[in-house]
Amino acid sequence: MIACCLFDLDGVLVDTARFHYRAWADLAHDLGFEFTPEQGEATKGVSRMASLDIVLRAGGMENRFSQEEKERLAAEKNDRYLSYVSTMTPDDVLPGVRDFLADLKRHGVKIALGSASKNAGTILDRCALRDVFDAIVDGTLVSRAKPDPEVFLKGAELLNAVSEKCVVFEDAAAGIEAAARAGMRSVGVGGDRSLARATTGITTFENFTYEALCKAID
Ligand code: BG6
Ligand code: MG
Repeated sequence: MIACCLFDLDGVLVDTARFHYRAWADLAHDLGFEFTPEQGEATKGVSRMASLDIVLRAGGMENRFSQEEKERLAAEKNDRYLSYVSTMTPDDVLPGVRDFLADLKRHGVKIALGSASKNAGTILDRCALRDVFDAIVDGTLVSRAKPDPEVFLKGAELLNAVSEKCVVFEDAAAGIEAAARAGMRSVGVGGDRSLARATTGITTFENFTYEALCKAID
């Protein structure tokens, strides 16, 4: 029996992973180097400041900036990211997501958000998704980034669910690792090779159901 499903946001429910990448690639370009989509994979699921370190390392600039300058670079990236987010509408929720969430609800499964993003609330509001969640845990509420399990353990705790009855949906290797450390099963979303350690995988939520989930994680 599944008591609770915990969803990552960026790249799982909405396609904001490409906005994060674009904003980091823009910043790298301004700093004089190219940040490739392959390098961008490593920033998925990772906090904003840890992502900045990954970007700077890719450009050989890891020791070039003071903490204050790094805060400024991260703020610049976030402004760019938010300008992309400001174009989002409820139509940007990924295909099949709303139907799957409704199916979970019909089966009495609680739904939680487990996101590293401090912008999660803005995105949920723009996409009219906030009301779907029984609990929301985002980057404003956790202090330890994935692969630390804090974000998922907090979500489960808010819903009084034990880890064995929780399933995590993630598009990032760091998130799959966080689920494993929380003692939860996981569904890798999107089909990237780095998700091979998930309990099971889907490429899209289209036509995915509670029944199919139960079979896949059994
Ligand atoms: C995660 C994204 O959901 O949130 C990461 O996968 C991002 O790429 C992290 O760095 C933090 O997001 P934000 O919106 O707080 O900068
Ligand atoms: Mg993600």
